[in-house]
Amino acid sequence: METKHLIAKGKTGKKQAINEAAALLAKGEIVAIPTETVYGLGANARDEAAVDKIFKAKGRPNDNPLIVHVASKEQLFSLVRSFPTYVTKLIDSFSPGPITYVLESSGKVASNVTAGLSTVGLRIPNNEIALMLLEQTNLPIAAPSANISGKPSPTTAQHVLEDLDGKIAAVLDGGPANVGVESTVVDCTEETPVILRLGKITANDIKQVVGKVKLATNIKESTQTPKSPGMKYKHYAPEVPLILVQENNKLQEIIDEEVQKGYRVGVLASSPNGTELRADQIIILGNDEEEMAAKLYHALRSFKQNEVDIVVCESFSRKGVGKAVMDRIERAANRII
Ligand code: TXA
Ligand code: MG
Repeated sequence: METKHLIAKGKTGKKQAINEAAALLAKGEIVAIPTETVYGLGANARDEAAVDKIFKAKGRPNDNPLIVHVASKEQLFSLVRSFPTYVTKLIDSFSPGPITYVLESSGKVASNVTAGLSTVGLRIPNNEIALMLLEQTNLPIAAPSANISGKPSPTTAQHVLEDLDGKIAAVLDGGPANVGVESTVVDCTEETPVILRLGKITANDIKQVVGKVKLATNIKESTQTPKSPGMKYKHYAPEVPLILVQENNKLQEIIDEEVQKGYRVGVLASSPNGTELRADQIIILGNDEEEMAAKLYHALRSFKQNEVDIVVCESFSRKGVGKAVMDRIERAANRII
């Protein structure tokens, strides 16, 4: 299959690219779409055969449910049964935005979308192109991140093509994603909202609105029966093994140890710390948590097996979205020392 690269740029270019992507989705094809967090691999959520193509293209285990993307609050409510009153407050505060609500499904999406669960994950993305596309198709669009399972999520159309060229009908290119890490996933089926996956919307943000919030007990580690099935799989792994260093004053020492073993060493660091380190390749993520989130997955994809053997990574600030960034790095790490 030839994958079309539809570039949504300029007034007419945007319209044309979106029209083409919408037509492919309506025909049951799968199309990668931009969102503010990461690129998603979209299909009509009501079309079981189309949704099945997503699992095949990504090599995704089919017990891992997909997030459904909608254009509006009304469309979101049409896909769910009853819900606690705080859900409306959360939606009014944070959507469109980088947050997914897990709610009791009204059964209007194909059963493979929810991997047979009674709940469905729903989100309104805060991206102009995505919203125009969702309005144009007038369909709920199931979309996991548009990477091969196990690889870091894509934050550009180029990343999508690296993983899925030839396997999907098209990628709708809306430029780089500006948040850079996946949405916060919140289980809203109980009296207290429970965060299943960390993201830019923090526990504190949710607490400010609802007055209470919990972190899923298994949010840090894999378990056999996780509430968010996706979290049990290894995630975000770069091509090259990664060592996370907890004490930043030991960074150079650990780099030197790896060099001694004969390895070519890459480093992932913040500025200004990174500018003082010596290694074969140094990628500086930036100064603040938001910039680091936006650059993280591109950086993880930049370390190539033919250039470095191992990546040594600094521990970054956990303020705001920094907590989600560190969560993803901990999942990507082969060793934490
Ligand atoms: O930012 C994002 O959320 C991106 C963009 C494309 O929207 N999507 C994304 O999808 O990251 P994915 O499939 O890579 O991650 C979805 C996560 C998984 O951990 C999955 O297990 C969880 O959400 N999830 C989806 N539906 C669920 C449900 N009904 N109950 C519990 N967890 C659910
Ligand atoms: Mg994913």
